[in-house]
Amino acid sequence: MARSKGERDDQEKSPGSITKDSTIGLSRLISVLIIFVVGVVIGLTSSSHINRYFSLQAGQFYNNYALAPMSDTSVRNCTIVNCEREDCLSMESFLHPKNLTHSMSDNELFWRASMVPKKEEYPYSRVPKVAFMFLTRGPLPMLPLWERFFEGHGKLFSIYVHALPGYELDVSSTSPFYRREIPSQHVEWGTVSLADAERRLLSNALLDFSNERFVLLSESCIPVYDFSTVYKYLIGSAHSFVQSYDDPSRYGRGRYSRWMKPDIRLSDWRKGSQWFEINRNLATITVSDTKYYTIFRRYCKPACYPDEHYLPTFLHMFYGSLNANRTVTWVDWSLGGPHPATFDKANITESFIQSIRNNGTLCSYNSGETPVCYLFARKFAPSALEPLLNLTKSIMKF
Ligand SMILES: *[C@@H]1O[C@H](CO)[C@@H](O)[C@H](O)[C@H]1NC(C)=O
Ligand SMILES: *[C@@H]1O[C@H](CO)[C@@H](O)[C@H](O)[C@H]1NC(C)=O
Ligand SMILES: *[C@@H]1O[C@H](CO)[C@@H](O)[C@H](O)[C@H]1NC(C)=O
Ligand SMILES: *[C@@H]1O[C@H](CO)[C@@H](O)[C@H](O)[C@H]1NC(C)=O
Ligand SMILES: *[C@@H]1O[C@H](CO)[C@@H](O)[C@H](O)[C@H]1NC(C)=O
Ligand SMILES: *[C@@H]1O[C@H](CO)[C@@H](O)[C@H](O)[C@H]1NC(C)=O
Repeated sequence: MARSKGERDDQEKSPGSITKDSTIGLSRLISVLIIFVVGVVIGLTSSSHINRYFSLQAGQFYNNYALAPMSDTSVRNCTIVNCEREDCLSMESFLHPKNLTHSMSDNELFWRASMVPKKEEYPYSRVPKVAFMFLTRGPLPMLPLWERFFEGHGKLFSIYVHALPGYELDVSSTSPFYRREIPSQHVEWGTVSLADAERRLLSNALLDFSNERFVLLSESCIPVYDFSTVYKYLIGSAHSFVQSYDDPSRYGRGRYSRWMKPDIRLSDWRKGSQWFEINRNLATITVSDTKYYTIFRRYCKPACYPDEHYLPTFLHMFYGSLNANRTVTWVDWSLGGPHPATFDKANITESFIQSIRNNGTLCSYNSGETPVCYLFARKFAPSALEPLLNLTKSIMKF
């Protein structure tokens, strides 16, 4: 009989099993036991969890007994070839990637960035950082101002720059901007490629687990407070700062497309400044969203601008209570027209900067109010740099 043959083979293969002169009754008992065990194993392996457990066990056995020298070789290959004599899974290279260069595609990058540790406590002393993400078409004219702003706060921030592909900022190796360009792609202003670039910045910044707040800035942005004030304001905030409002005009609701129904209704539609500030939780949620981003990609085309509607609408629909609904980046729309005012050399005065910092209005902050509504401001022409540098000590306090 096939079964008894198999049973014998088993007995012969496994060392230390019962001897051949055992009684028929005992061998029947064993055959029943084996069938029972095989049945249980088949039943259990249909569950993927158990499956993994068993393959792990099998792998361990394989390593320990079967082909020990070979597994040793493969470990050695990893150590020498892939990681240049570094521990392949060292916490250091995981937590503080030295090099922003990588060859991940957007899809691979967004997937990696969406990962969230399940454990609440960290196995290292985590000092939360603010990620400053610069979206620029070329040089950063305000760079000397920013360098002065960052000076002396090395451990509390990270910088990411999305410039034109291949563009390298002309800065010295001591600058905090040195080699902070992320792998970028061509951006056409007003199209979804701009929103893609923002996702790319967010995702690269998410790879550093210490980054807790994420602020998007342009080449024409300036800080109006010192670093410590900005840091405390953002890290201490219970809300993210994404402007989100209902604009009934053709520049707001007029950009809505009925094709977005039923997933996004007109009553869900929101508008807001592209220059957002969000915390880690919302950043992860944002780069993880495919459904709504795809709808925007498909149906929000000029004169609909995804960068002005996607985040304000998405957050309003699902995470409104986590949002302050206002921006921390000041801008002047008072002149009217499609573009905000740009300020040059002639416009920079102490009273002007002071009025951005505090114009007597109070803004809600956590459960209370604060005279500090804006931490950053735009748009400033390159010629504004010199007079601004003159004001950092007296007005901006850095
Ligand atoms: C690992 O290294 C050994 C010896 O150096 C080599 O023969 C083998 O092809 C390598 N394997 C891989 C996967 O690189
Ligand atoms: C970063 O990685 C790229 C490609 O892997 C390499 O060419 C470059 O030299 C690295 N830079 C640093 C500073 O290690
Ligand atoms: C922001 O707007 C949402 C509605 O989208 C609201 O639920 C939330 O309370 C607002 N946040 C604050 C801080 O007022
Ligand atoms: C900047 O200053 C110039 C010259 O005084 C003035 O004409 C212009 O209106 C100012 N711009 C803004 C946005 O205030
Ligand atoms: C101060 O800023 C707030 C918020 O931007 C604005 O609504 C208000 O009109 C400003 N007040 C003055 C006096 O400039
Ligand atoms: C900046 O300050 C220096 C010295 O205080 C002064 O000479 C220069 O004219 C100032 N520049 C501007 C643009 O205000």
